[in-house]
Amino acid sequence: MSFTEKIYRDEDVDLGVLKGKTVGIIGYGSQGYAQANNLRDSGVDVIIGAGDRRFHSGWDKAEKDGFTVMSIEDAVKKSDVVHILLQDPAQPEVYYSSVHANLKKGQTLSFAHGFAILYGTIKPPKDVDVVLFVPNGPGPVVRQKYLNGSGIYGCVAVDQDVTGKAAEIALAIAKGVGSTRVGTILMSFQHETEGDNFEEQVLYGGAIHLMRGIYKVMTENGYPKSFAYAKAIRSIRSIIDDIDEVGIEAYLTGRASRTCEFAVRTSGPRVVNYDEIQKIFEETERGEFAKRWLLEFSQGMPVLNRMRRTWQDSDMEATGIEFRKRFGLS
Ligand SMILES: NC(=O)c1ccc[n+]([C@@H]2O[C@H](COP(=O)([O-])OP(=O)(O)OC[C@H]3O[C@@H](n4cnc5c(N)ncnc54)[C@H](OP(=O)(O)O)[C@@H]3O)[C@@H](O)[C@H]2O)c1
Repeated sequence: MSFTEKIYRDEDVDLGVLKGKTVGIIGYGSQGYAQANNLRDSGVDVIIGAGDRRFHSGWDKAEKDGFTVMSIEDAVKKSDVVHILLQDPAQPEVYYSSVHANLKKGQTLSFAHGFAILYGTIKPPKDVDVVLFVPNGPGPVVRQKYLNGSGIYGCVAVDQDVTGKAAEIALAIAKGVGSTRVGTILMSFQHETEGDNFEEQVLYGGAIHLMRGIYKVMTENGYPKSFAYAKAIRSIRSIIDDIDEVGIEAYLTGRASRTCEFAVRTSGPRVVNYDEIQKIFEETERGEFAKRWLLEFSQGMPVLNRMRRTWQDSDMEATGIEFRKRFGLS
């Protein structure tokens, strides 16, 4: 079996397309820190654009890491590639206050998630390239893998190509960050964004609610709290690396016990509602998830704030704090 999508590896991508160019990393959080450091270590000229240091910690952190740091406005003016690594809901406001008016013809505007472009909360001028590069993992892992000589599977996409070099530039960023060491694919803004939002709802949402469900039922039925917590959370760590390494079948038949294999194959499907997964996919494709999230954000996140309050105060969280204190992370 072979993939229909082309997999770009180091030998397919020319980092030289960034030679003589400056990459302005806008935002120095999880991705900003990782991507800026990896690019610099790959020989790319990087500057950092950060928010007011009185309110945002990125400026001081980047300066401590030895970067030239400036206001977002100045970084946009001084960069050839403007790589926006701000948290997604904050992007439109920062973009219109500090980025848009400072963009020049032929510059590359780059993102690490397609949300703002797909849903039109950012509408770049027609004379700049618009691309994205996304490593499939959180910043600290992107950095650690790079330092270990490896990388993280990535994807790039092009929404506007005025220079004729948009894809080459996006792939060069992927190479500088380390993603073409393992493989990077070219896809659309739509698939990157909706695929990400679909995964967040179903995989992260489903997995975390399963953890909560296991803990709740076990503790309500008299199990020791530390045992319920270990079963609800820690057990997943032991299987995910194995499955990632050898695949589901080899894990089930070769590494799991026969009882576990029987449990997974026969009871597992009762826990998952495939019709709901399909519905969530369709809602995501219709833009309904994005609309709900944008509305929630614009209203000061009342649903999230309310849920944070109750979840943070939950018995499971208190158990987790104690569990980590007593049993560490092993
Ligand atoms: N984290 C992941 O796993 C992951 C994976 C792939 C792609 N991405 C994408 O990468 C992008 C960045 O995400 P992230 O996880 O790196 O976010 P993050 O860790 O929350 O960092 C965001 C950065 O933006 C700064 N910022 C926020 N609001 C600002 C404002 N109004 N003015 C100036 N600076 C502001 C923050 O500064 P302060 O913290 O100092 O306020 C911080 O430096 C997003 O598009 C995300 O979808 C993330």
